Amino acid sequence: MVEKLNESVFYVGANHPERRLFDELIPLPDGTSYNSYLIKGSKKTALIDTVDPEKSEILVNKLEKLGIDKIDFVIANHAEQDHSGSIPVILDKFPEAKVATNTKCKSMLEDLLLIDSNKFQVVGDGDTISLGDKTLKFIIAPWVHWPETQFTYLVEDKILFTCDFLGSHYASEELFVEDKVKTLETAKRYFAEIMMPFSNMIKKDLKKIDGLDIKIIAPSHGLLYKDYDFIVDAYKDWISENNKNEVIIPYVSMHGSTKKMVDYLSEKLKSEGIAVKLFNLTGVDLGELAMSLVDAATVVLATSTVLAGPHPSAVYAAYLLKALRPKIRNISLIGSYGWGGKTEEIISSLTSTLKVDLIDPVIIKGYPKGKDFSLLDTLVERIAKKHEEFS
Ligand code: FEO
Repeated sequence: MVEKLNESVFYVGANHPERRLFDELIPLPDGTSYNSYLIKGSKKTALIDTVDPEKSEILVNKLEKLGIDKIDFVIANHAEQDHSGSIPVILDKFPEAKVATNTKCKSMLEDLLLIDSNKFQVVGDGDTISLGDKTLKFIIAPWVHWPETQFTYLVEDKILFTCDFLGSHYASEELFVEDKVKTLETAKRYFAEIMMPFSNMIKKDLKKIDGLDIKIIAPSHGLLYKDYDFIVDAYKDWISENNKNEVIIPYVSMHGSTKKMVDYLSEKLKSEGIAVKLFNLTGVDLGELAMSLVDAATVVLATSTVLAGPHPSAVYAAYLLKALRPKIRNISLIGSYGWGGKTEEIISSLTSTLKVDLIDPVIIKGYPKGKDFSLLDTLVERIAKKHEEFS
C-alpha cells in the first residue's frame, strides 16, 4: 500500500517485521521499517532515501503503482545501506536521476555502493533544490549517527525528513504515531543503541531544528510525528545531565558466588532508596541494557573470574559501555575468584575512557563471607553518598 502524507508526498518505504537483528548486533523486538518518501513537484520528482536492498522490490512496486516514470533526484540523507542500499536499483531504473547529497555522504556512497561520481549533485547546508512548486532545503546535521547525516526540509509542506534522527525500529501498519508510550519505548531503545554516543552532537542538531516551522517529522525508521514535542522533549532529557537515582548491575556468575554478592548489593541499595536494575549477561537483550544506561547514575559490573580474568560476557559488557558512552556518573566492579586473576585491571583498562568516578571495586575470594558483606555495605554507602550529590 502506498500511503499519502498529502497530495504531493507519498510514503514508499518498506516494513521489515521479521527482522530480528540489526548490524548483526542489536535485537529488534518490533522489527523495523525503512522509510522512503516520494515528492511530486509541478516540474520535478524527488525520492527521499531508499530502502534496505533486501526490500528494493517493495519500493520499486510502490513507484510503479504511483505511475512514476521519471525521478529527477534521489536525496540521500544518510549513507548507511538500510537507506542508501537501493539507490543503485533506482539509478538503474531511472538513469537520469541525480543523487543529491553533501560531499561527505557522496564520498561514502562512492565507497560503499560504487556509485559513479558523475551521478551526484552536491548540496551544502542551507542549499535548496526546486521541484517547481516544491522546495527542498538541506540542513547538514552530522553525527546522527554517522558523520555525513543531513536533514531535508520540504519548505511548502513543512515536512522535515530527519533520516535516523528521532526514529525507531518499529514495523507498523500505521503511518503516524498514535501510541506515544509505545513510541517512546521504541525510540528510547533506538536512541540508546545508536545515538547515545553522540549526545553532544545531538544537542547541536536539536538546535538546528528549533524554530523551524514543522508540521510533520518524517524519520527513516518507524512512525512519523505530527505531534512531535514529546519526542523532542524526550531527546532533550536523554542528552541532559539529569541522572536517575538508579544503579545498573550487569552480572555473570558461574557458580553462584558473584550472584550472591549481586543479590546482597541489590537489596542493600534498595534499602537505601536507590532503584536497581539487574541484567544477567547470559542471554541479555542488549537493547534493554542499553536503554537502562540512558538515565542511570551508576553501573556496578559483576563478574566471576575465569581463566585469570573477567568472564568474557563481562568483557563484552564493559566494551559496550565504553562504546555507548552513557552519561553515568559512577562505575564499580564486584566479583569473586578462586585463586587469583586480573579482573580489576582488565575491566579498568576497558572503561578508562569513560568520564566517570571509579568507586572502589569489591573483588573477593570464594563464596562471600562476613567481611565480604561488610565491603559491600561500604560500597553501598559510597554509592548512596555519590547519588546524594546530584539528587
Ligand atoms: Fe538506519 Fe544509520 O541507518
